[in-house]
Amino acid sequence: MRLGVLVSGSGTNLQAILDACEAGDLPAEVVCVVSDREDAYALVRAGCAGLPAMFIDRKAYRDEDEFNHEILDVLQGCGVDYVVMAGYMRLLGKEVLDAFPMHVLNIHPTLLPSFPGAHGIRDAFEYGVKVTGVTVHFANEVFDRGPILAQEEVHVDDDDTVETLEAKIHKVEHRLYPAALKAIASGRVRVEGRIVRLEP
Ligand code: GAR
Repeated sequence: MRLGVLVSGSGTNLQAILDACEAGDLPAEVVCVVSDREDAYALVRAGCAGLPAMFIDRKAYRDEDEFNHEILDVLQGCGVDYVVMAGYMRLLGKEVLDAFPMHVLNIHPTLLPSFPGAHGIRDAFEYGVKVTGVTVHFANEVFDRGPILAQEEVHVDDDDTVETLEAKIHKVEHRLYPAALKAIASGRVRVEGRIVRLEP
C-alpha cells in the first residue's frame, strides 16, 4: 500500500506512520510527503527518512482548484494508493477526493462530530468535556465529516491542562493512525454508506 502523506505542521503523526512501516507493524510504504507550509517540520522528517518531500505554495496558484490540481499531479506521479492527511490543515479539493474515492484518510484530535476544525483539543478542553479522544475517518468534501473508521476516547482529568491533554491525545493518535491504516492494508475494512465495519 503506497501512501502519500499531506502535512502542514510538526509531523509527529507522519513519524508514527514511518516508524510503524519501518518496524514491520504496518505493511505500507510512504512514497511522498506534501506540505502546504514551507516551515513544516514534517518536511524535515520526510527528508531524514529519504523520502520525496515537497512544499506546494498555495500563493503560487490562481485558485484552490489549480493548487489542488498540482497536489493531485504529485500524488498520481508517485503512484499513491491512499492519501493520508496527517495534520493537513486545509480542505482537500474535490478533484483529489474524486481521484481517490474512499482512499483519503484524515485524523482529528477529538471524538467527531464534536469539536471539528483547527483547534479541536482546545475547544473540547474549554467546553469542559470529561471525555474526548481521537478520530480517524475517510475524508469527504465537508471538513471533518467523512465516515468514521476508528475512534478512541481520552479522559480529561481534573488536573489536566490543554498541554497535558494534548500530550495524551497525541499519544493515542500515534497508535491509532497506524493501526487504522493497517486494518485497511489487511483488507478488513468494509464501507457501507457512512458505516465503516472492521471485519475480524
Ligand atoms: C494532530 O493532532 C491532528 O489530529 C491535528 O493536527 C495535529 C497534527 O500534528 N489535525 C487536525 O486538527 C485536523 N482538523 P502532527 O503534525 O504532529 O502530526
